[in-house]
This record gives sequence, C-alpha cells and structure tokens, in this order.
Amino acid sequence: MNTRILTGAAFGALLALSAPALASAADVANGQALFRQQCGICHIAGKGDGEGGQGPSLKGVVGRKPASDENFGAYTQPLMDATAPWTEANIAVFLADPQKVYPGTAMPIRVGSPTDRADLAAYLATIKAAP
Ligand code: HEC
Repeated sequence: MNTRILTGAAFGALLALSAPALASAADVANGQALFRQQCGICHIAGKGDGEGGQGPSLKGVVGRKPASDENFGAYTQPLMDATAPWTEANIAVFLADPQKVYPGTAMPIRVGSPTDRADLAAYLATIKAAP
C-alpha cells in the first residue's frame, strides 16, 4: 500500500531517477491486467493480451517514434507529425488526455488514475519489438 501511494504522489520525482527505479516502483502486473481490460480490444502488445486491430501494435512502443507501426495504415496526421519518441513518462502523460497532447489523434481512451497510467506505461516498457 505504501508503495502505491508513493507511486502516485512521487511520480514526478521518480522521473528524475533512472528508468529501472521507475519500473520497479510501478506495478507491471497491474499494468498488464489493465491493458487486457482497457486496451487489448484495439491494440496488440504482449502474448495473450488480445488481437485488437483497430489500433497500432504496441510491441516495443517505448523507444520508438509515434506512428511507426508500419503495418498500421490508419494513423492520423497529428501522430505522424509527432517527433518525440515514446518514453514511459510521455506515454503516461498521453494516456491522461490524448487529445491534449496530440489534438486530432484517433486514440480515444483516457486513463484517469496516475497510478494506473504509470503501471500501463511500465508494462508497455517490458514488451520488446516483434522480431
Ligand atoms: C477503441 C480503440 C482503442 C483503445 C481501446 C485504445 N486505443 Fe490506443 N490507439 C488507438 C488508435 C486508433 C491509435 C492511433 C491514433 C492516431 O493515429 O492518432 C492509438 C494509439 C495509441 C498509442 C500511440 C501508438 C503509436 O504507434 O504511436 C499508444 C501508446 C496507445 N494508443 C496506448 C493505448 C493504451 C495504453 C490503451 C489502454 C489504456 C489504449 N491505447 C486503448 C485506438 C485505441
């Protein structure tokens, strides 16, 4: 319980620390569970998460440029124009309000809880790009 309070309250402070410190503070298993509930209908990520085809694959999304799944043909212009590579931190910000970060994006889901956003981003960071 203490860990979860720390994750929410000190998320900004944790961003200043190394990525491994951030990953260990976030709850990857919770991120996976949330992903299966809220994202898998549209996105593919880890094994068994779902086969959602309405959105791009999120395999290896952390570290890649936005709109770079070459098999997804329906990216919007605002995401194609984006240049900052995805990080755990900016995915968490994006999930809070995708329209605020990239106005006009077709990514429709908002995640209200900062803890859930951090857990989802930490989960996505564990998934490597497809070979
Ligand atoms: C109803 C379908 C749908 C759901 C549910 C959904 N997304 Fe998306 N998502 C999309 C679409 C469509 C895009 C492409 C947006 C664009 O081109 O503007 C996208 C884009 C993204 C991107 C950027 C991918 C890239 O290649 O740059 C991320 C990250 C993302 N979604 C994460 C999530 C997460 C995490 C969840 C669950 C909390 C989620 N999405 C739920 C449809 C969905």
